[in-house]
Amino acid sequence: MNEEDRSFKHLGVFTSGGDSPGMNATLRAVVRSAVYRGLRVTGILGGYDGMVQDKTIPLGARDVSNIIQRGGTILRTARSEAFRTVEGRKAAAATLARHGIDGLVAIGGDGTFTGANILSKEHGVRTIGLPGTIDNDLWGTDFTIGYDTAVNTAVEAIDKIRDTASSHDRLFFVEVMGRDTGFIALASGLASGAEYVMVPEQLQSLDELVKALTDASVTKSSSIVVVAEGDEEGGAFEIARKTREQIPNADIRVSVLGHLQRGGSPSANDRILASRLGVAAVEALLEGRFDQMAGIVNGNIRFTPFSEAIGKRKELNTDMLRILAILAT
Ligand code: F6P
Repeated sequence: MNEEDRSFKHLGVFTSGGDSPGMNATLRAVVRSAVYRGLRVTGILGGYDGMVQDKTIPLGARDVSNIIQRGGTILRTARSEAFRTVEGRKAAAATLARHGIDGLVAIGGDGTFTGANILSKEHGVRTIGLPGTIDNDLWGTDFTIGYDTAVNTAVEAIDKIRDTASSHDRLFFVEVMGRDTGFIALASGLASGAEYVMVPEQLQSLDELVKALTDASVTKSSSIVVVAEGDEEGGAFEIARKTREQIPNADIRVSVLGHLQRGGSPSANDRILASRLGVAAVEALLEGRFDQMAGIVNGNIRFTPFSEAIGKRKELNTDMLRILAILAT
């Protein structure tokens, strides 16, 4: 273990990008462990926008009471346009300097870490990133904070849709979140016993889908197809439209789960992950680490440089599609 950096006295923390269940639990862990180590903590409100506009609040241990179970983020979040400009980042760095902040914990996804990486290069700001996104698409961690909750939310919704699908003998297309990735689609599809799952990572032709549904219809009166919103063939509405052309007698309905997957109380797994990573982030900064994301790999905390976490693509285990096809027979 490295020596503790005794000049590090004041920590800034913020949430950024799309919110995810467990961001509050992460914030709680960061604040409490920082206070435990004798640090002063400032919360930056509204992501990078708050940094640019100098919107901050002091945070003590009691300010993060009773939030471990709350969805969303009490610090609020944004996808900042201002921070994309050189002037915006200059203003953000000036805010940090004005408050005497020695380093940051950034809770968010790849856009958040891209911003932190640039801020480090341009202004020498030290940051540890924590993976807070429902998408689970970050290299350097097996799980992101919020993913487990989002999958459970999707499964609960699909189970309900299954009730109505089987009552009416219908074919349902359920769209789940994942602009560029199928982690939520694949996990929720497998866990809910879906007949088919479509993910951006794997080229699946409409013909394959139609064949699978036609085969299933020999013994089943209803089916569920889970579609990741970023699928190559289009979203659930588009795929349903194309399927209707091929199977005109199917009684098709579409359900887009949307942002309900981003809300809600975090699962126990997400709270535990948030707690472990929050403490790890503070300890890392005190040991002189920065420009890295803290993640969990094979159950252990692992640090990955921002350049890698942003630059590499985490692979979806597409063998799960094969398993799903076997179990859908
Ligand atoms: O990155 C998380 C995510 O929820 C994606 O799955 C989704 O495509 C996107 O955010 C939606 O973003 P917004 O809330 O800005 O529309």
